[in-house]
Amino acid sequence: MEYQILNLFPLSVYKSNLGLTQKYKEELIKEILNMTKNSYQPDYKKNNNSWTGDTQGHDELHKNKKFDLFFIEISKHVKKYIDYFDIDPTKLDFYFQRSWATLSDGQENIKHHRHMQSHLSFAYYLKKSSTDSNIQFVNMDHPNEFIPSLFLSKTVSLSKIFKNRNVKNSSLIDLNCSEDDIIIFPSKSRHGTQPFVENNNRISISADILLTAKDSKNIEHMMPPLNQWKKFSN
Ligand SMILES: [Fe+2]
Repeated sequence: MEYQILNLFPLSVYKSNLGLTQKYKEELIKEILNMTKNSYQPDYKKNNNSWTGDTQGHDELHKNKKFDLFFIEISKHVKKYIDYFDIDPTKLDFYFQRSWATLSDGQENIKHHRHMQSHLSFAYYLKKSSTDSNIQFVNMDHPNEFIPSLFLSKTVSLSKIFKNRNVKNSSLIDLNCSEDDIIIFPSKSRHGTQPFVENNNRISISADILLTAKDSKNIEHMMPPLNQWKKFSN
């Protein structure tokens, strides 16, 4: 019996590698370790939470000269991702809105969250061994979960109702990434890092990216160019 499965509406995550030299990576690692020593909100970080620069006063790496080359390389990959969706990049302006590093040691992890003030986000793995934790994505829409809670249920999982667990029957996917990998995804995708995994000073860099229309005349759903905005607060 022949049949087809037609996968409609997938979440498309971009994956590539930047090819940064070891020397440049070490320079950036040094800069980031200095930031971790100058945290502005140290009490915010709880035990088993990773250090996240955006919550510690270090959320403008894109304005730091040492990261210039890094962001030039990133911008090329963002354009490739946009190309996948058959969007004409010449119609858009791209902005790095905020950017920060994360540092995870021991069993520290980043809880599931979304970047709702942004359009696209990326994670770049500046320092990561094969045993360090991976990023996880959570499917919030559950279009295939014909029995509610089936895909995330721990008791269903223990009962071996599923012969295999894979992308077809999971609402939570661990994405295996190596050092120098970059992934780009819609900022609204729910994500975090694997808990209960031993990390050895794993360092990643993330940024939030906004896309505006170069010309927003007659367009309802795109952000207009920034020079059309009028600030009215002091
Ligand atoms: Fe994030």
